[in-house]
Amino acid sequence: MSIDSTEDLFVSGLKHAYYTEQRLLDALEELEQSSSSEELKSGFAEHREETETQVERIEQVFDQLDAEPEAEEDPIVEAMIQAHEEFMDQDPSDEAIDRFNIAAGQKSEHYEIATYGNLIPMADQLGMDDVADTLEETLREEQDELETLSEKGEQFDYGELEASD
Ligand SMILES: [Fe+2]
Repeated sequence: MSIDSTEDLFVSGLKHAYYTEQRLLDALEELEQSSSSEELKSGFAEHREETETQVERIEQVFDQLDAEPEAEEDPIVEAMIQAHEEFMDQDPSDEAIDRFNIAAGQKSEHYEIATYGNLIPMADQLGMDDVADTLEETLREEQDELETLSEKGEQFDYGELEASD
């Protein structure tokens, strides 16, 4: 399919977002499991639940467009997941993993904010107000999660970790 209109661009972006959100369900589970801080674990678990809803919202948007939900592989989310795996292969300490996981979460939120921050104005331009409103809900959740993680990153103190075991 050639992309030569705002509508094509929007649908292409939506397919990548659908892929990304589904991959992030796995990634958030990995972030939760590899973190030691209980606060971080529960934060990633909560955002994973929100992400399930975000996947459903995208399905709702495909429905509003009268199209079947379709995912298209997004190389950026794959690269972020690979970066996490490579980090874990270096046998990092629990503290280092927690600090890395905060940053990994922040990176994915920045990426998603850029994605929705572009899909929403395209939906507006195409006159799809309901679609824009649906995606706006997800954008707000991503912004809240980024803020939460950024605060955790600023407050993070090596040696202060309360291990979960
Ligand atoms: Fe998301």
